[in-house]
Amino acid sequence: MTGAIRAIISAPAAQADDPSQGEALYKAKCAACHAIEKNRIGPRHRGVFGRRAGSLPDFSYSAALKDSEVIWNAQSLDRWLENPAGGPLGSH
Ligand code: HEC
Repeated sequence: MTGAIRAIISAPAAQADDPSQGEALYKAKCAACHAIEKNRIGPRHRGVFGRRAGSLPDFSYSAALKDSEVIWNAQSLDRWLENPAGGPLGSH
């Protein structure tokens, strides 16, 4: 499941999963707080793949995310989205 979501937020870099499935999942699971192009309750997702966690200058992140040294890639996104409370970044 997280692979399909990753396909959406990382497009066009990686299309390993079926993007239409990812889009439905994204709408169901993420769109309440996130949009691709603009900040909402959560930061915008355009370009998040390969970005340092907590690095948008115009979004007010938690200290945990800001101080983390995580770079968002396939591995770190999967790990966090599968178990948000278990990582160094706290809950999501
Ligand atoms: C209840 C609201 C909410 C939902 C639902 C939600 N998020 Fe978030 N998301 C946030 C908030 C708030 C932050 C900022 C967290 C912080 O500052 O610690 C965030 C941060 C993130 C980040 C880090 C962005 C960055 O710039 O470092 C990613 C990636 C992310 N969310 C992906 C997702 C995905 C994928 C989903 C769907 C599976 C999702 N989120 C669902 C609220 C939400």
